[in-house]
Amino acid sequence: MDLMEAIKGRRSIRKYKPDPIPEEVFRALMEAVRWSPSWANTQCWEVIAIKDPGVKSELATALPKGNPALPSMTDAPLILVLCAKKGISGSYKGQVVTVKGDWLMFDTGIVMQSLCLAAYSLGLGTVVVGMFDHKKAEEILKVPQDVEVVAMTPLGYPATEGSTPKRKDISDFVFSDRYGKKG
Ligand SMILES: Cc1cc2nc3c(=O)[nH]c(=O)nc-3n(C[C@H](O)[C@H](O)[C@H](O)COP(=O)(O)O)c2cc1C
Repeated sequence: MDLMEAIKGRRSIRKYKPDPIPEEVFRALMEAVRWSPSWANTQCWEVIAIKDPGVKSELATALPKGNPALPSMTDAPLILVLCAKKGISGSYKGQVVTVKGDWLMFDTGIVMQSLCLAAYSLGLGTVVVGMFDHKKAEEILKVPQDVEVVAMTPLGYPATEGSTPKRKDISDFVFSDRYGKKG
């Protein structure tokens, strides 16, 4: 699939078929994660792949009832939880080197996009899930203190197409030379 086609065509999927994901497809997605860029190539990410229906149901309790991705947490055959080791990205010799502090959100954000685009190119659906009780998820998944849960996505074959939310026009976010100056 052409890259622009993938970037523009990928949609958040919130309804999934129960069909399992072949092992080679899963590995291809993990290659997309593996080759993502990161701060000084520190690769702070870790992925928990959840198939166990009991763990999926427990993890779903970390989402607020109003989260539209909630049903997909138990419907999808797999849940991928994206974690990050703290204090690595954005640091040099243990010292934070920019005002932005830990860059783990940035690195894992890139990973998530790589994953979602690769999944889409292989016919699979994803939806980034960020609105949930992170502390509760960390407890359920027994994540150690030096690691945090950042986001997750259900993964599976789409049962419906996603709707296409409107995007801003390019002219709404591009400036020339200085902030606020329109070209
Ligand atoms: C950081 C982040 C967090 C998100 N969290 C949720 C979420 O908790 N629940 C949900 O249903 N969708 C969530 N989304 C999906 C967005 O709602 C979706 O990407 C956006 O509406 C654009 O739609 P599209 O992905 O189909 O292009 C999240 C997306 C991002 C990037």
